[in-house]
Amino acid sequence: MPSGPLARLGVPLPVVVAPMAGGPSTPELVAAVGEAGALGFLAAGYRSAVQLEAQIARTRALTDRPFGVNVFVPGSSSVDVAALDRYALRLAPVAQRLGVPLGDGRWDDDGYAGKLELLVAARVPMVAFTFGCPSAQDVERLHGAGSLVAVTVTSPAEAVQAQRVGADALVAQGAEAGGHQGCFDDDPHTPLGGAARPLATLLAELAPTAPPPVIAAGGLMTGADIAGALAAGAVAGQLGTAFLCCPEAGTSETHRRALADPRFTATAFTRAFTGRTARGLVNDFLREHTADAPAAYPWVHHLTRPLRAAAAERGDADTVHLWTGQGWRDIRPLPAAELVATLAVELAAAR
Ligand SMILES: Cc1cc2nc3c(=O)[nH]c(=O)nc-3n(C[C@H](O)[C@H](O)[C@H](O)COP(=O)(O)O)c2cc1C
Repeated sequence: MPSGPLARLGVPLPVVVAPMAGGPSTPELVAAVGEAGALGFLAAGYRSAVQLEAQIARTRALTDRPFGVNVFVPGSSSVDVAALDRYALRLAPVAQRLGVPLGDGRWDDDGYAGKLELLVAARVPMVAFTFGCPSAQDVERLHGAGSLVAVTVTSPAEAVQAQRVGADALVAQGAEAGGHQGCFDDDPHTPLGGAARPLATLLAELAPTAPPPVIAAGGLMTGADIAGALAAGAVAGQLGTAFLCCPEAGTSETHRRALADPRFTATAFTRAFTGRTARGLVNDFLREHTADAPAAYPWVHHLTRPLRAAAAERGDADTVHLWTGQGWRDIRPLPAAELVATLAVELAAAR
């Protein structure tokens, strides 16, 4: 039986299935893992409040089990406009090859205020934030609606901020993690990924400060991995990559095929696709554009969006982002409930 926020929600296993924006997280995945005893998350990132509302309703139609919703916190950016122009110019031949225009590079806040309104009204069991820290007032509003609040952190300094605003749990995200790093500020002056800590280091750094309960994320693929995180002080493990190839996940066919393709041999950090540090399989686009990509999220995300959509549609795995954590070789493409049950057996054996 888990302790901390999962116990408060009545979730029997110390297993969280990570929010994965851009397709993989679906109501079907969230419901299947919830029914199997884990805590699933919908991903609000890149979705409108209306689309999110429909996903919450669909999840509630599929299950009575608790679930969470994850939201991107908007950041600020002071970017060299010339660098943005140079990057757009650099990508023009890729757009030409694919026969689509480059996207409209722009700044926006992903509809943050509207999504918060919706979440307060929807009274979901848990709301998690990434890319920044919510305000104490927003945490209070969510508490008032009966929701527990989690904040993704990648350093002890971020943990202190999350604690100050009243977070009920921290998601400690290590450098091994797939997808975007949830750091509050993606500092362009630090070497790419240079501030990211291996999960074990982060858990050890957080332990003495007695922060809110910690959910560990990054490179956890088996029940034994989760047992290791619990032994290091976490109350649960959060797994993303491990669930990417479950049939209930909305992962694209191009992404699924690449994850099983021996041609891809490594993962790396890049800002080339979105302007924010993220880990994905090393493909041609990542190799060719990482060095020149500015730290300009979501400007670059919007700029490359049509390219990535066109590439995914034609199965061009060398031009699309292939987010994955370092443990991708251990993915088991099982039905989600079966994977949760397998993790539970492995965890019990390892403890
Ligand atoms: C495809 C993909 C999409 C992701 N999208 C989100 C997201 O929308 N919000 C978020 O907080 N984390 C997101 N993450 C990161 C996960 O929350 C988690 O930190 C990560 O999956 C843990 O590492 P692992 O992939 O090695 O299990 C994403 C990860 C992946 C692989």
